[in-house]
Amino acid sequence: MDKLLITGGGPLRGEIRISGSKNSALPILAATLLAETPISLSNLPHLNDITTMLSLLRCMGVNVTVDERMRVEIDASTIRCYEAPYELVKTMRASILVLGPLLSRFGEADVSFPGGCAIGSRPVDIHLRGLEAMGAHIEVDGGYIRARAPDGGLRGARFLMDKVTVGGTENLLMAAVLANGHSVLENAAREPEIVDLANCLVSMGAKIKGIGTDRLEVEGVSSLKGCEYSVMPDRIEAGTYLCAAAATRGSIKLKDTHADSMESVLIKLQEAGAELEVGENWIRLDMHGQRPQGVSLRTAPHPAFPTDMQSQFMAMNAVASGASKVTETIFENRLIQVHELNRMGANIALEGNTALITGVERLKAAPVMASDLRASASLVIAGLVADGETLIDRIYHIDRGYECIEEKLQLLGADIRRVAG
Ligand code: EPZ
Repeated sequence: MDKLLITGGGPLRGEIRISGSKNSALPILAATLLAETPISLSNLPHLNDITTMLSLLRCMGVNVTVDERMRVEIDASTIRCYEAPYELVKTMRASILVLGPLLSRFGEADVSFPGGCAIGSRPVDIHLRGLEAMGAHIEVDGGYIRARAPDGGLRGARFLMDKVTVGGTENLLMAAVLANGHSVLENAAREPEIVDLANCLVSMGAKIKGIGTDRLEVEGVSSLKGCEYSVMPDRIEAGTYLCAAAATRGSIKLKDTHADSMESVLIKLQEAGAELEVGENWIRLDMHGQRPQGVSLRTAPHPAFPTDMQSQFMAMNAVASGASKVTETIFENRLIQVHELNRMGANIALEGNTALITGVERLKAAPVMASDLRASASLVIAGLVADGETLIDRIYHIDRGYECIEEKLQLLGADIRRVAG
């Protein structure tokens, strides 16, 4: 199993391009099932999760062609089965996102029940209750969600989500666009990736109002057509590199990224002492060689501070000056990286869902193990600011969400390489 070997060093300096958003590309790939004619997607990141989703579409009989620049053309008219098998779903929970489109377009879906993962139990009860509100009949049998639409197809419905759920909003939005009649999704998630999905659905002919708000109104249409669509830049990848630059007291510029999707993260970086400059599709961060200030934060649904940036900021806080508090409110087990960071000399105490951090000047290299995608990113940041060689194991977690991470960090001057395990 590959590992990443990082030798801690000086500040990150340079310029890199940000890839397309994993968490926008995944629901948009699922939405291609809704189109009666081929759909062309560009700016897809080259990631294992994207490959898995393409494999899932192919195994249903969907025609998928990919060119050398990761431009993808998808034609769902060749679909021959409506099943998302356990072998694929167990490797990527986001496979659940085909449930809404399959049910809405074809009236049936058998999707392996997605299990939990390192960060939490990750239930899908709200997804299922929303589909039942649209008239679906749903059984869980043999580890599979077996869903069937009523005769005549799903019916538009008003549905209040009792928790803000990104995936639940995405699944129910994709179900509503082809349902009969009017739907209202209350307490909808407002993440930029949902806006991107909604904009793509509108390009396909969907009728959606309230995009970007917590109340989505949908007028069901009889069919949707293919379109050409470019996926938004990955705001979490961008935030991760900005955090790494802040932790290493560096100065970097990110291209092909949109600052407006990550305001809460940029505010926290400024609080940490970063000087930020933003343009139409770029962000520059400069620490002027200064050690970051510790910043306290509390994760919450967009537009508040994103849970996907929590562990990266914890790594920065670990070497910042002063004390800070990081509170995780979205997932029940997303502070797990604290233990590996403490093995590297960090000074972090846990109190329930809050980490109390006292910054230290430098960390000490150690062999560590990644546990989930964003915890892995925090270990990479820690390795960049540790004295010595940090060896990170189980980096398949990283390859799910960060395209060419070692090449991009090498471009920024980091001493990092992938070694065979
Ligand atoms: C999406 O996961 C993202 N994944 C996650 O990013 C992200 O952390 C999360 O949203 C929150 O922003 C993708 O977009 C592929 P949720 P999702 O449904 O949709 C509870 C990464 O690192 N809940 O918004 O699974 C759930 O347990 C990944 O890129 C229910 O109780 O997250 C959690 O506590 C990790 N019932 C909370 O809601 C449900 O039916 C938020 O989960 C659904 C969710």
